Amino acid sequence: MKSFVILGGKPLVGNVTVSGSKNSALPILFATVIARGESIIENLPKIGDTEAALTILSELGADIRLDGNTARINTESLVYSEPSSALTSLIRASTYLIGSLLARFGRCRLSTFGGCNFADRPIDIHLDSAYRLGAIREGELLLANSLHPAEITLRLPSVGATVNTLLLASSIKGKTVIRGFAREPHILTLIDFLRSAGAKIELSDGEITVEGGDLHGGRVRIDGDVLEAATFLTAGAITNGRVGVLGVDFNAMNSITRAFSALGLSLLYEGEALVCERGEYSYYTEIVARPYPGFPTDLQPIFAPLFASLSGGKITDTVWRERFGYLDELARLGVKSARLTDGALIYKSKQHSGTASSPDLRGGMSLVLSALHSRGESRIYSAEKILRGYESLDEKLSALGADIKILS
Ligand code: EPU
Repeated sequence: MKSFVILGGKPLVGNVTVSGSKNSALPILFATVIARGESIIENLPKIGDTEAALTILSELGADIRLDGNTARINTESLVYSEPSSALTSLIRASTYLIGSLLARFGRCRLSTFGGCNFADRPIDIHLDSAYRLGAIREGELLLANSLHPAEITLRLPSVGATVNTLLLASSIKGKTVIRGFAREPHILTLIDFLRSAGAKIELSDGEITVEGGDLHGGRVRIDGDVLEAATFLTAGAITNGRVGVLGVDFNAMNSITRAFSALGLSLLYEGEALVCERGEYSYYTEIVARPYPGFPTDLQPIFAPLFASLSGGKITDTVWRERFGYLDELARLGVKSARLTDGALIYKSKQHSGTASSPDLRGGMSLVLSALHSRGESRIYSAEKILRGYESLDEKLSALGADIKILS
């Protein structure tokens, strides 16, 4: 088990270029299964989750070449096999095997899908789409002799179910219409990839129409990670420093920049960088996490220690109502909070160094931020959970002036 050892209380200063988005990269890695031939993926983040996805692809027989952050993945000669649950239980994105294996081989075994277990994570919407497109279930097997187009309205704008529906529809000849879909930036990057591989996809406000078929290898550049960008802006603000971020589409960050401004933090452009600095005043703020274009659920744990360092606030999460278990660990570092039915009150608190254990990726990152804020040495256990989603985290933080080490 790895841990971070952080000597906190140092202001972080400087610019950081964020890596490719985890949540864009993962659907595309699994989409290469249906794009026969060589696909080229640029700006692929080297993180725990993409490593696990590449291992799954390699076990299926993909030929993978990595050159820095560019991956060339050839899926011409894949053969059906059932990835081991030891692998699929590592990452939530292994649910994308439902779409990719069913589309390519007409079968997929439902497995233990892993990832951050901060809440119950059902897959009924993924399965409903598969059934609507012609799949049947026999025990733990999903089977499809021939898939057919359909009109599908997702019960909720689930990111994962939208990905699986797009993967299936892109492999089906004829027109599939998808409504009620997720609109996160990573869905748009997946659509770019699928188009480059030969799928005809039209996107309007209320529906996606897909005319699929036999796809060839595609090419895409993964968009910069808005969640990582917001995390570094928070790291600057919480340490009373001044951090700027580069390499991300700021238009996809509107709800996030609004939240920083509401807290009383100044956001300004300096050249190409978006910089955040602490202002003279701060304000009690309420944030409500919602599907895109709302404030992202993945950032509410990141904002909790920031709230505690400013004037406190209230967080409501409408996507994962129970995603507040991390507050028990943050309490070890002095963050005072009270749980509500679907949210939490975060009190202005004197945070201090200490030891805590990462419950999951973003909950773990909230501990790192609190430790960076507080003077003295903190130890954050289960660092690998955080490294699942942040590339070269210790190096990037060190370059901004943090004193952080990873111990194995
Ligand atoms: N839901 C269902 N049934 C389903 C699928 C989802 O009821 O079949 C519900 C969930 O219970 C939840 C809501 O729909 O309440 C949204 O879940 P969604 O399917 O959108 O989440 P996901 O695809 O499993 C992705 C990200 C998560 C992020 C959520 C929401 C990836 C690999 N994961 O998960 O990212 O929290 O969307 O934006 O893209 C993270 O990066 O830390 C992370 C957890």
